[in-house]
Amino acid sequence: MIQKELCKIISQREIAADIFELTVEAKLVNEITEPGQFVHIRVSNRDPLLRRPISISSYNKKSGQFTMIYRKEGKGTSLLADLTEGMVLDILGPLGNGFPVDEVTAGETALLVGGGIGVPPLYELSNQLTAGGVKVIHVLGFQTKSAVFYEHEFLKNGETFVATVDGSYGSKGFVTDVIKDLRFDCIYTCGPTPMLRAIEQMFSDKKVFLSLEERMGCGVGACFACVCKSADDPTGVSYKKVCSDGPVFRSGEVLI
Ligand code: FES
Repeated sequence: MIQKELCKIISQREIAADIFELTVEAKLVNEITEPGQFVHIRVSNRDPLLRRPISISSYNKKSGQFTMIYRKEGKGTSLLADLTEGMVLDILGPLGNGFPVDEVTAGETALLVGGGIGVPPLYELSNQLTAGGVKVIHVLGFQTKSAVFYEHEFLKNGETFVATVDGSYGSKGFVTDVIKDLRFDCIYTCGPTPMLRAIEQMFSDKKVFLSLEERMGCGVGACFACVCKSADDPTGVSYKKVCSDGPVFRSGEVLI
């Protein structure tokens, strides 16, 4: 069930250039059902008034805490980045449908492909798949070396490839250059739309789950700010809401 809660900040740190890792204590952690869900954070009572959608990168129901990773890039996330341990945040969540973990079984291989700020939700997914005996391979793409984060965290679970667009770290180029030679049973991916589109086209014969990044208003399916076209409707008038139908979709479910 979606809850609105004032959550205490346990820690906040900058883990790469303008990338922040924020951990809070919250009862709503008990409502999280899948990796890849997100929360909606109110960062100010004045400007900006709209909440900011931030994906959940990991959670621990025993400790009652969850962690988010976000990029500081506008007014809202700049205000968020200024907050420190002990302060309180107004959080709505958990929201959306995440990655279906049971689409791969023990002994199979899952390929997790993340681009930039699409990397965080894959971390909890990687942890859960690994715990279930699934072999995981990670391919993480960033613009440049200073933007790289969580490589070592992912490495603990399995083979991890890093690509940077400018070649300053890992292999030079895009994640799609790396994944074409890998073998796997299922892909889970999150990142910029051109990356998702390329992956969907490359692996039309595979099981692919894509988490879409979209601008949001309400976050709960009420405002239509986040709609995308449904692929199974020939008339082109049927839509899906990324916030409440997604953000994770099976390939071929929506037009991206
Ligand atoms: Fe309002 Fe999705 S953000 S319907």
